[in-house]
Amino acid sequence: MIGERMSAVSYQVDGEVAVLTVDYPPVNTASLAVRTGLAETLERARGDEAVRAVVIMGGGKTFIAGADITEFGTDKSKASPSIQDIQNILEDFPKPVIAAIHGTALGGGLELALTCHARVAVASAKVGLPEVNLGILPGAGGTQRVPRLTGVDAAIDIMTTGKHISADKALEMGLIDAVVDDARTGAVAFARDVVASGRSFMPVTQRDDKITGVDPSVFARARATVGKKARGKIAPMAIIDCVEAACSSSAAQGLAFETEKFAELYASDQRPALMHYFFAEREARKVPGLKAVAKPIRSAAVIGAGTMGGGIAMVFANAGIPVTLADISDEALAKGMATIRKNYEISVSRGSMAQGKMDEALARISTAINYADFAQADIVVEAVFEKMDLKKDIFTRLDAVMKPGAILATNTSSLDIDQIAAVTERPEDVIGVHFFSPANVMKLQENIRGARTSDEVIATVMDLGKTLGKNVVLAGNCDGFIGNRMLQYYTGEAGFLMEQGATPEQIDRVAEKFGMPMGPISMRDMSGLDIGVLVRKERLKKLPPGERFSPILERLVEQGRCGMKTGKGFYRYEGRDKSPDPETTQIIEDVANELGIERRTFTDEEIEFRLFAPLVNEGAKEIEDGTALRAGDIDVAWVNGYGFPSHKGGPMFWGEQVGLDKIYDAAVAAAERNGPRWAPGKLLKRLAMEGKGGRTPEGARCHLHEKRR
Ligand code: 3HC
Repeated sequence: MIGERMSAVSYQVDGEVAVLTVDYPPVNTASLAVRTGLAETLERARGDEAVRAVVIMGGGKTFIAGADITEFGTDKSKASPSIQDIQNILEDFPKPVIAAIHGTALGGGLELALTCHARVAVASAKVGLPEVNLGILPGAGGTQRVPRLTGVDAAIDIMTTGKHISADKALEMGLIDAVVDDARTGAVAFARDVVASGRSFMPVTQRDDKITGVDPSVFARARATVGKKARGKIAPMAIIDCVEAACSSSAAQGLAFETEKFAELYASDQRPALMHYFFAEREARKVPGLKAVAKPIRSAAVIGAGTMGGGIAMVFANAGIPVTLADISDEALAKGMATIRKNYEISVSRGSMAQGKMDEALARISTAINYADFAQADIVVEAVFEKMDLKKDIFTRLDAVMKPGAILATNTSSLDIDQIAAVTERPEDVIGVHFFSPANVMKLQENIRGARTSDEVIATVMDLGKTLGKNVVLAGNCDGFIGNRMLQYYTGEAGFLMEQGATPEQIDRVAEKFGMPMGPISMRDMSGLDIGVLVRKERLKKLPPGERFSPILERLVEQGRCGMKTGKGFYRYEGRDKSPDPETTQIIEDVANELGIERRTFTDEEIEFRLFAPLVNEGAKEIEDGTALRAGDIDVAWVNGYGFPSHKGGPMFWGEQVGLDKIYDAAVAAAERNGPRWAPGKLLKRLAMEGKGGRTPEGARCHLHEKRR
């Protein structure tokens, strides 16, 4: 434990250079222990006559990864010295101080480095200001120092996206002063050079008291573009305000403005929601009780060269894993590879991928018709149509050829993993690995454990997610798993709302205002109404007596309205531009008349609650029956798979904030309207009765984490 050590920062002298090494695993956060250690060792270096320069570096795998967010809201975050106290010491330090960056210098870590006299980094290092992902802004001068170094446009981009920047790019932008081979030796040599040359450095904020010569229209443009992507997040806008302040007021005033804005964001509802989400994402990777460790995955195969299979092959190739794409004919493979190539070309033309990277990725994808050609792959992911017989046939063939120990994965979005596993002699090697379309873009990887899946296979696919750059959750085997099981209530309620008088446009507008990237009606049009009807045919067989789906979907498909691909679905389309269609209104009204439903108007608030409250009820049932390990996993699934706004924390966190009593009442009302499947589950009922939920107090855990009793 750190408290038992002498200090979180060690002090060594290398000739005339003092090396201060931050050692606070796992990621060397600027915790109170680190801040205290830095203040003490800097004082020592100040008084050490043999020392003429100082290097600050991180021990272990990284430089300082930012403020310690577990300290937020605790006495430790308010205790001295603060990050700003250390920055003041650094800016006035009489001897040159060089930051030596390896791993990541993020948030408060980079901000500390920006008050050192110079910064060097190894080529693999990354720097960034990801505070925006936590609903805050760089609050240790980042909004004032970064634009002074990089210019306004780049500063806004870095801070509103929170992206990591490579050492080369950081050098080009002026954030660092040199790229070195080894952090310690490179920084010590740099420090010696500074001493020998007598070079002096001026603190960044003193170089220009105010940034001048910036066209003010830059900010209006930034607000428009960033605002579109932010979908209701307030931190990106506050960051732009701060950068604007750096151009209109003195450095001291700009820093004071930043502190004010930081406090506003800190007090908002979005900050706890995003912090919950940050920890949920990390917790979701952990599976309690697993008795095995992950195996390496060095090669892969994907069966099905359609949109989904092609996307999955790209995911492996992008992660550096050679992959064989398999299908039944040369034509299907050629079509699949052409789509993959086109997707890469789009990335290159947009500047998000270098041509060289595209060539390398494409070179990792081979094609095959015969299963024997990829029998030695460590994992094979089947991604064909959602037809059980077809999947069973493929798994029978895979069982016959794949090497012992290969993982046999299915990308099914709702089918029974155990039925698929049962056709093989090795059900312990079978697992669901569900990617979301387009697989090369969407961040969720929902892994589904079958009844007999081995711990080693589970550990391996959970670990694989990180390699593939995905956020993982582990789900139990049931219809729709974590995400799609809940989705049917969201889209189902949208159907009932239309029968009762809400328009498709109003429903979509409310969902999008809530923060969803696309409303449920447009989402249906995009994924294809005919596909929705097919899935529903299966689900209809399992509906309890007295329950129904709104038949609007089927009626539209009967009229040839299959969604965007046929130019009309709920909406009418000119390319991707949609407009409301009176024919749809007529179809909806006819359905309502036939069912004897009285139509009325709805407020936006009513629609919002009718759409989102059922997600929380079904999610709570998933926790109850073990489909989801934790409420946070459901939040991770919905943020990454369906675009639920992360600044609301995910559906379960949102439900807690709204109040579980309100969610319970909504479920009772939904059951009266729609049938018994919509009734509140036991866990929700108990927590609602106990008065849980409502605005979660600082640091409190989600009550829905509390599982069954
Ligand atoms: N505070 C507290 N704990 C943190 C942390 C932080 N800033 N960053 C990471 N951790 C913890 C994680 O919760 C995790 O804990 P666990 O092992 O108990 O689950 C552990 O460190 C390891 O984290 P990862 O699993 O994410 O490790 P990776 O190696 O995949 O990634 C990382 C490392 C890139 C540093 C990643 O953790 C990261 O992006 N962290 C967040 C960095 C950040 O947001 N910094 C800004 C903080 S706010 C700030 O600085 C305010 C300032 O402007 C005043």
